[in-house]
Amino acid sequence: MTAVTYISVGNIGLGIVKALLKAGTKVTVWNRREDRAPVKEAINAGAVLEKDVKRAVANSPIIIVCTLNYATLKEIFADLPDGGLNGKVVVNFTSGTPGQAVEMDGWTRGNGVAGYFDGAILVPPAFIGAQDTPNNIFLLSGETEDYYLSLSPVLASIGRGAYLGPDVSTASRLDLAGITAMYGMFSGGILGMSLLKKASDGKPIAPTVKAAVVPMVQSLATSLERMAELWDKGDFETNDGHSLGMQVTGLGTLRTAYEEAGIEFGLCAPWVQLMKEAAEKNGADAGTISTGPLLFK
Ligand SMILES: NC(=O)c1ccc[n+]([C@@H]2O[C@H](COP(=O)([O-])OP(=O)(O)OC[C@H]3O[C@@H](n4cnc5c(N)ncnc54)[C@H](OP(=O)(O)O)[C@@H]3O)[C@@H](O)[C@H]2O)c1
Repeated sequence: MTAVTYISVGNIGLGIVKALLKAGTKVTVWNRREDRAPVKEAINAGAVLEKDVKRAVANSPIIIVCTLNYATLKEIFADLPDGGLNGKVVVNFTSGTPGQAVEMDGWTRGNGVAGYFDGAILVPPAFIGAQDTPNNIFLLSGETEDYYLSLSPVLASIGRGAYLGPDVSTASRLDLAGITAMYGMFSGGILGMSLLKKASDGKPIAPTVKAAVVPMVQSLATSLERMAELWDKGDFETNDGHSLGMQVTGLGTLRTAYEEAGIEFGLCAPWVQLMKEAAEKNGADAGTISTGPLLFK
């Protein structure tokens, strides 16, 4: 027997397995293809390979999994016999939707789990196992806080984590909200960089991005909290000096700049449209957050 069975040793899996082993936890690993580089590295680091998923699950009381997606997870679990999770605690870090978390909670309970936690990894593999990070490495929800704390001796080696309460869907929802904001930043950031690159004449743009773009994005990130407060209050009038009308005009200037430079601006087009609709509905003096309610179908 080992303390933990880890299912799907990909990039994230290898990080988690190495962090567990480093902390002295005995780990069984299972992966669909055993000849993969992360699996070999996990075995070299001290993990026990089990080629049969049924035996792998039987080998530990705690099952940690972070596989590609929930369809994959269902395929893997489908190979277990009825009651194949009897008495096990499943900690599932696979990225998924709140609905998939609820469905997997029900499915694992129907298959005898003693406990099911659903969550997400918030960092790239290199950060897994780092201690004293300013941000959380993982999120989990489901069961109770006491139950979660009982797993701390094992989970602490992965890094700083947050328990978000008994509603099993909470961790996934929070993860997805953060990822959506991240992709907004990446898409806008890469579009902005393209403007610099086009005019760079072969010179590096990284120093300019570091000196001018990153500080601007960092200082503006906190305005999300302010907007959330205004949305909570239903206050769509306060504009904190950034009226919708001014911004719609500014977005016109932005579009012209990209057209001048011969760069595709289409990535921003849906956002420009939403701002215009919000200005038409709420008036030119309204705040940016008045776009939010227009997203609800
Ligand atoms: N990488 C990141 O930076 C990062 C950050 C945060 C969250 N995540 C999330 O973490 C999860 C894993 O990501 P990753 O980067 O570790 O992915 P990865 O390196 O591509 O590993 C994917 C794992 O899923 C397994 N797999 C794929 N299809 C399968 C199937 N049909 N049946 C059985 N196993 C299958 C792979 O097994 P084989 O080796 O046999 O193909 C491998 O173990 C994803 O949900 C991802 O969204 C990733």
